[in-house]
Amino acid sequence: MAYNITLIPGDGIGPEVISAAADVIEAAGVHINWEVVEAGIKSIEKEGTPLPDYVIESIKRNRIALKGPLTTPIGGGFRSVNVILRRTFGLYANIRPVKSFDGIKSLHKDINLIIVRENTEDLYTGQERMVDENKAEGIKVITREASERICRFAFHLARDLNRKKVTLVHKANIMKLTDGLFLESGRKISKDYPDLEFEDVIVDAMSMKLVQFPQNYDVIVAPNLYGDILSDLAAGLVGGLGLAPSANIGRDAAIFEPVHGSAPDIANMNIANPVSAMLSGAMMLKHIGELDAALRIEKAISRVLKDEINRTMDLGGKLGTKEFTEKVIQEIK
Ligand code: NAI
Ligand code: MG
Repeated sequence: MAYNITLIPGDGIGPEVISAAADVIEAAGVHINWEVVEAGIKSIEKEGTPLPDYVIESIKRNRIALKGPLTTPIGGGFRSVNVILRRTFGLYANIRPVKSFDGIKSLHKDINLIIVRENTEDLYTGQERMVDENKAEGIKVITREASERICRFAFHLARDLNRKKVTLVHKANIMKLTDGLFLESGRKISKDYPDLEFEDVIVDAMSMKLVQFPQNYDVIVAPNLYGDILSDLAAGLVGGLGLAPSANIGRDAAIFEPVHGSAPDIANMNIANPVSAMLSGAMMLKHIGELDAALRIEKAISRVLKDEINRTMDLGGKLGTKEFTEKVIQEIK
């Protein structure tokens, strides 16, 4: 069976790591007709917009996309295309698994957690304004509907994957109404899952606990901003952003992408670590039902990473993006 899937190469290191992901998927025996569409900085130059309509149309048609990171200007400039895509397609759940790899130097050895981040609201709705030239304000939006939906998703995922515990992260001691509503929603949904342990932790304490005792966590559910921050923190615990995949899941579409950004500091140098993109591709394969191929990719990556010589520079190795990808492909075959 062949699949039609949208592919957005992205900015910076995006094209390098996404083509590596497409190559290992092909090597694992899954044939995909990639519909390649550009978004981001390149599209501004060519089309005058970072998100041309045909990108939206392509994702609408195929319902699945593999995407590279897109640069978002800091301060002013256009709004994040990532945020717009997530909102346009109602990709309400951002799933970010974080797992220790054998042999990779890190603070801890046995981390195996999943961050489930609410993906459509909180401080990311772009409702900011200058009150006067010396005062800016932003609106934090938390709805019962989105909070219950993401908490249900997290509990459901936990049960599906035989996990034991769901930890809800918040700051409801200070943001009593917004985070209070998120916490209240989680408590309510937890009643439907008596087989799963449920706890809530305040986000600042959570940051410390995650660094000191990450093994204590299983499935973590959080509003948008805390989920964003904690997922980079957690990636740092297992070897860095080069190893962190993610899925953006909605009712009608799903977009798979590495957690990292466009890393302009290392773009076009053949040194980016393509593992996060490859693992995002594996998450995509599981989503479309190609479980065997996904597991083969994951196992091949773990085996290749065991040997320090076989790693990219961010992990202390010497291999370039292309050479590393070639090793993984050989291992798959
Ligand atoms: P970044 O994630 O691009 O880079 C942070 C650091 O990690 C850099 O030192 C980079 O070299 C390193 N790094 C990231 N991925 C790597 C990889 N695969 N292999 C080796 N090293 C890697 O974050 P930064 O620099 O804050 O953001 C750059 C741009 O990316 C910004 O415009 C930001 O808005 C955008 N961004 C886009 C995302 C997306 O499209 N989903 C997510 C995060 C940021
Ligand atoms: Mg982020």
